[in-house]
Amino acid sequence: MKLLVINGPNLNLLGIREPGHYGTENYQQLLEKIQRYCDEKGHEVSFLQSNHEGALVDAIQQAYFDKVEGIVINPAAYTHTSVALLDAVKSVSIPTVEIHISKVEEREDFRQVSFIRQACIGTVTGLGTDGYLRAIDRLEAHYAG
Ligand code: DQA
Repeated sequence: MKLLVINGPNLNLLGIREPGHYGTENYQQLLEKIQRYCDEKGHEVSFLQSNHEGALVDAIQQAYFDKVEGIVINPAAYTHTSVALLDAVKSVSIPTVEIHISKVEEREDFRQVSFIRQACIGTVTGLGTDGYLRAIDRLEAHYAG
């Protein structure tokens, strides 16, 4: 599969930000872990992290023209606010899995809303950074039928 892994705001600070919620692994280590997993599985993967909503929309749109077959996205805080990201995923019709490192369903009320979820084939939460690998598994299962 040709995959794109998108990370939203503040996820570049993994390892620094709130380790009680997000662990001690840094962003670079996360990318290396996903890359290793994709190498083992024979998937092509590229990565995008941005703190800007529009840049995330641009990346989702570009995925269509790049013929990406699966998107793994942690929209971070934009999960809870962004109709633009929801519309972008709907626009490109690329199978997409939403992932959250923390167990968002056990956190604040404002984290209980996910706009993007209704456009996703699955959601993974609360598994730490291993959740990104499980999201890839979910995309594999989707194509396996
Ligand atoms: C997060 C959860 C969001 O509520 C939060 O805003 C984040 C990270 C997670 O990975 O657990 O930035 O998406």
